[in-house]
Amino acid sequence: MSTALLDAAWKARQNACCEYSGFAVGAAVEASDGRIYSGCNIENASYGLTVCAERVAIWKALSEGVREFRRIAVVTAAESVTPPCGACRQIIWEYCGDIPVTASNATGDRQSWEMHDLLPDAFDCAKLKR
Ligand code: THU
Repeated sequence: MSTALLDAAWKARQNACCEYSGFAVGAAVEASDGRIYSGCNIENASYGLTVCAERVAIWKALSEGVREFRRIAVVTAAESVTPPCGACRQIIWEYCGDIPVTASNATGDRQSWEMHDLLPDAFDCAKLKR
């Protein structure tokens, strides 16, 4: 895990729009060519419209035409590291595949997983065959 990816996630976290939860999240995804796309969580008074940092980072990359990814990082100031939520796991699996996910917090704890461990027996296009 390059420090550049974590650094980008921490920088994006500074822009978190988290006035309702007070829980600021930063994420950064690395494309196969090494480019980094970052995101923060963006909340809304209609709470269900909230978008997680991971998805914002992935939407940014996808909208720039990126289709292959190497890894993703998620950072928070929580006591224990923050793994991606269920919705983000589905999106990471769909668009990034079986990449490593690294989560870190402000005290420097770090944990990594492979996507197939975070989302076993995933529902994806292979399961749409009739
Ligand atoms: N959140 C993320 O951005 N990523 C995660 O992996 C977990 C949760 C956000 C959503 C919401 O804005 C806040 O954290 C509290 O759930």
